[in-house]
Formats: sequence, C-alpha cells, structure tokens
Amino acid sequence: MNNVKGVALVTGASSGLGAAYCRQLANQCKTIIAVGRRADRLEALRLELEGETCVYPVVADLTTVEGVTRSVEALRQQGPVSILVNNAGFSTLGDFADSALDVELQMVRLHIDAPLELVRAALPFMREQGAGSIINVSSVGAYLDMQKTAVYGGCKAFLLTFSKALQAEEAGHGIRVQCICPGLTRTEIHDNPHFAGFDKSRFPAGMWMEADEVVTESLSALRGTEVAVIPGRINRDLVRKSLQQQLSLLEE
Ligand SMILES: NC(=O)c1ccc[n+]([C@@H]2O[C@H](COP(=O)([O-])OP(=O)(O)OC[C@H]3O[C@@H](n4cnc5c(N)ncnc54)[C@H](OP(=O)(O)O)[C@@H]3O)[C@@H](O)[C@H]2O)c1
Repeated sequence: MNNVKGVALVTGASSGLGAAYCRQLANQCKTIIAVGRRADRLEALRLELEGETCVYPVVADLTTVEGVTRSVEALRQQGPVSILVNNAGFSTLGDFADSALDVELQMVRLHIDAPLELVRAALPFMREQGAGSIINVSSVGAYLDMQKTAVYGGCKAFLLTFSKALQAEEAGHGIRVQCICPGLTRTEIHDNPHFAGFDKSRFPAGMWMEADEVVTESLSALRGTEVAVIPGRINRDLVRKSLQQQLSLLEE
C-alpha cells in the first residue's frame, strides 16, 4: 500500500471482522464502501468514522443478484477501488443431509459468487492503477475436516485455492491477493440463528482471538508476499498438525 489515500470496499462491514477492517483502514482510505444488510449498523459506523474517512454505506443482501449488482455499481462509481475485502459470511451447523438446501445455496452465493463478482469488477481498475489489494476472508476450516459445516468448509477451501491462483495471475500487475484464515474469533457469527446449537463454551479462552487482532495481522501481512495468512500461533499449530496428518497418509 502506498501513501495515497485510496478507496476500499468491505463486505460484511456491519459487525465483527468487517467493522474491524473498516476501523483499521479508516486512516489510509478516503472512502470506504461498506456493504451489509443492516442499515442502522452501517450508519453507526459512518458516524463513528466521520472525520477519519468517508463511509459510503451500501445496504445489500449479497446472496441476491440485486444486492451484488448494487455493490458492483458502488465499486465502479466510488472507485477506483484499491482495497477489496471479501468478508461477509455466515455458517450453518449440522449434517448436510438434514440441511435446508436453500440456506446452503445462499451460503455458496455469499462466500463464492459474490466475491468472484466483486473481484472480477475490481481487477480492471487495479490493473489500470498497477496496484491494489484483495483480501478474501477464509477460515482455518479451509485446512481442517469440517464435519457439520461441510458447505461452509468447502466455500472457505475454494477461497484459499482461488486466492493462490489469482495471486499468481495478478502478481505481474502489482496486485496483492491475501487469503486470511482466522480461527475462532469473538464476533457475532456464533450468535447467528443459522448456527444455533454451536456451544462457544466448549472451546478454551486461549483459542479465541479478538476481531481487531485478526485484522491487524491481516493488514500487516499485506506488506509480505504470503497469500495464506493464519493469524494466531494456536491456529497455525492447528493447521500444521492437520497438514502433517494429511502428509502422513501419503507416506508408503
Ligand atoms: N468469527 C469467527 O470465528 C470466524 C472464523 C473464521 C472465519 N470467519 C469469517 O469471517 C467473516 C466475517 O464474519 P464475522 O466472524 O465477523 O461474523 P459477523 O460478526 O456475524 O459478521 C458477518 C458479516 O457478514 C454480513 N453478512 C451476512 N450475511 C450477509 C448477506 N446475505 N449479505 C450481505 N452481508 C451479509 C453481516 O452483515 P449483515 O447481517 O448486516 O448483512 C456481517 O456484517 C466470515 O466470512 C466468516 O466466515 C469468522
């Protein structure tokens, strides 16, 4: 990132990691296009960051064609966007066989279709500027067995593989792609009705990170070259162990 104040687009800006990205990007962006469904939360964020940056709220449901179109239009009108954070997300909990298929498909639209549309819309502007950062918010789940969150895990694995290939394709254009893979983070995601039954108390306090810590690691890692960024030592240990187990299965 250079010293010229750019324009960012952050999805899922109304709470958790998305709101934390907006707060931490405020001093380096002249405008932040903040996407989410809850207008009151986006307005509160706009007022909070007034004076630091101009928050341009886009009230949109990214599982709908209309919501994605409105966000892409904002990206084109308010841009050129120099930072795109594909963060909006939720998870369900339970066996896929018992799931509500329409909700699982909404999850795919939110975690895969919407990021693809936004990345595709942002890339020509970033290529023209010869610079830009794309952050796709995945999860440690991209590396782990995700029983009971199969579609969520599949979406997060997609984002990781997509981000690695995209970085290879775009490096020559000065574009930086990061796939941040957080572990348990204190946000509202675990209180979402779709995630009913998730027992937060099963996990020791040491496994949880604050949204601010995750975002600080993500933004400082933009200075490096790694695509996959796993914030927090405990999460890196978890992934290392899982990868070692997978490798041992390949040994003859
Ligand atoms: N917290 C964790 O433990 C954890 C761990 C790994 C990865 N992540 C990932 O981090 C990302 C952010 O989640 P979070 O933990 O910060 O949870 P969060 O506090 O629940 O935030 C989720 C955000 O996504 C937005 N969103 C949800 N459905 C949407 C839709 N249909 N259209 C537009 N926006 C929508 C929400 O806004 P509205 O409700 O206003 O639409 C909200 O701003 C997600 O991709 C999640 O998978 C979280």
